[in-house]
Amino acid sequence: MQDFIQQLSGAIDQKYLLTQEEDKAPYLTDWRKRFTGKALAVVLPSTSAEVAGIIKLCAQHQVAVVPQGGHTGFCGGATPDNSGTQIILNLKRMNRIREVDVANQTITLEAGCILQAVQDKAVEHGFLFPLSLGAEGSCMIGGNLATNAGGTNVLRYGNTRDLCLGLEVITAKGEIWNGIKGLRKDNTGYDLRDLFIGSEGTLGIITAAVMKLYPLPISQWTTLVACENVASTITLLNLFQKRASALLTGFEMMTRESLDLNEKHFPQMANPLKGNPPYTVLIELSDHESEEHVRQLLEAILEEAFEAQLISDAVIASNLSQANGFWHMREHITLAQAQEGANLKHDITIPLSSLESFIQVTDALMRDRFPGVRIINFGHLGDGNLHYNIAPPLGIDPKTFNEFNEKQIHELVYDQVERCKGSISAEHGVGQLKLDGLRAHKGKVAHELMKTLKRALDPQNILNPHKVVSI
Ligand code: FAD
Ligand code: MLT
Ligand code: ZN
Repeated sequence: MQDFIQQLSGAIDQKYLLTQEEDKAPYLTDWRKRFTGKALAVVLPSTSAEVAGIIKLCAQHQVAVVPQGGHTGFCGGATPDNSGTQIILNLKRMNRIREVDVANQTITLEAGCILQAVQDKAVEHGFLFPLSLGAEGSCMIGGNLATNAGGTNVLRYGNTRDLCLGLEVITAKGEIWNGIKGLRKDNTGYDLRDLFIGSEGTLGIITAAVMKLYPLPISQWTTLVACENVASTITLLNLFQKRASALLTGFEMMTRESLDLNEKHFPQMANPLKGNPPYTVLIELSDHESEEHVRQLLEAILEEAFEAQLISDAVIASNLSQANGFWHMREHITLAQAQEGANLKHDITIPLSSLESFIQVTDALMRDRFPGVRIINFGHLGDGNLHYNIAPPLGIDPKTFNEFNEKQIHELVYDQVERCKGSISAEHGVGQLKLDGLRAHKGKVAHELMKTLKRALDPQNILNPHKVVSI
C-alpha cells in the first residue's frame, strides 16, 4: 500500500492527496450520519486526465475506489467500507462549466458542479435547469447522474437521466470515454450513456456531462390543498393532468403526521391549512403565456375540485415569498426527520392505481407487527413516488429500535411493493442500504444480467465494490 500511495503522489498534487486522519474525516460520513467508513486516502482531482491517472494506478494495484460528490445520498453509496483499504475520489474540484450552448439549449459541465450553481448559471442565460431537490445546495451533478436523482420536477421534465444528452466517463481501466455530445437523437448501438447513469459509481467515474436546458416559465402559481384521503389526492392529480397537462410542474403529497413532525422541530414551518388535514397537496403550475392565463386556469381547476368534493380547503400563494414558504415546508420534512433521529426510509414507486391498496395494507400490517410505530409518509405523488418512512414509537430510542426491527420492516414494505408491482427504489438508488433488497426483489434474471455487466466493465471489482450488486 505504501508503494501505491507513493505512486499516487506522482499522479496528483500532494495538497490534494489526503492521508492524515483529521483531513480524511469530513469525507467518511454521509449527510444523514447513517453510514461511516475508513479510507486509505482521499483524492481530490481537478481534471479528467488526473482522474484517469488515479484509476489506472488503482487498477494496477487492485485498490478499490469510492467516487463521491456532495455525500448527500441516502443509501451509503459514497461511503467507503470499514477495511481502510479503499480510496475516496471526491470530485468537488471538477466544478467548471465548460459551455452554455444557447442555440442547442444545453449546458456542458463537470461532475463536481453543485446543482444550485447549475440552476443559477442556466437562469443567467435565460434558461431553466429543472432538476430540483432539497439537497441542491450541496449535491453535485455527478452524484445526481450517478444516482439518477429525481426531485420535485420529474412529472414535467423527467429525472436526471431524461435531462442528460452526453457523458464523459473514466472506465475501470483508466480510459477516458468521450461521449460529450449534445444530441437529442443518436441510435448508434448500445446506449452507453444510459448504462452509466444510475450505476452509482460501480461501472465508471462520471467526470463531465451535457445536460438539457429549457425556456424559463414566465409565471408560476403555487397552491396548498386539503384532501381527506389518498383516493382523493389521486383523482385530484388526474384532474390536474387532464386540465393543465404540461403546465403541471409540481404535485407533492404530505401527510398530517409528516407535517406534525415538521411543526414539532420547525414551528415556523406550520401548515397554513386549517387543522393540518390528513393529506396536504402542494401543486405548482408553470406557464409560458401569461400570469393571468395560469391563475385563471388554477382557479377554475380548484373550483371543479371543490365541487367534486376532492378538496376541502385551499390556499393560493399570493407572492413569490409565500410560494417559497410552501416549498420550504415540503422540503423541511427531511430535516425534521433528521432532527427526530434515525428513521427508516423507503423510497418506493407504485402504480398510482395500486397506491391506495399499498398504503392501506402496509399501514395495517406495520401497526399490527410493530405497535406504536409512526408512519411518516410524503412524496412526489405525481410520479407515484412515496417516501414511506417509519419512526419508532415515541419514547423508544431509534438506534435500539432499528437494531432489532430494521430488517423485518424493510422486508414487510418490500413484499408489499412487489405485490403492487412497484420498485423498491424510485430515486434514491441502492448503494449499500438496499443491496439485499435488490437481490431479493429485482428478479433473478435481471439481477444476473446486472452482475454480468458489472463483471464485463469492472472485472477487478475496483469501482465502488459491494454497492448496488455484489459479484
Ligand atoms: P453522493 O452522495 O456523493 O454519491 C451518491 C452515489 O453516486 C454514490 O454511489 C457515489 O459513489 C456515486 N457518485 C457520486 N459522484 C459520482 C461520479 N462523479 N461518478 C460516478 N459515481 C459518482 N434524491 C432524490 O433523488 N430526490 C430528492 O428529492 C432528494 N432530496 C434530498 C433532500 C435532502 C435534504 C438530502 C440530504 C438528500 C436528498 N436526495 C434526494 C438524495 C441525494 O441528494 C441525491 O441522491 C443526490 O443525487 C446525491 O448527490 P451527491 O453529489 O451528494 O452524491
Ligand atoms: C424528498 O423527496 O424530500 C427527498 O427524497 C428526501 C427524503 O426522502 O427525505
Ligand atoms: Zn424525494
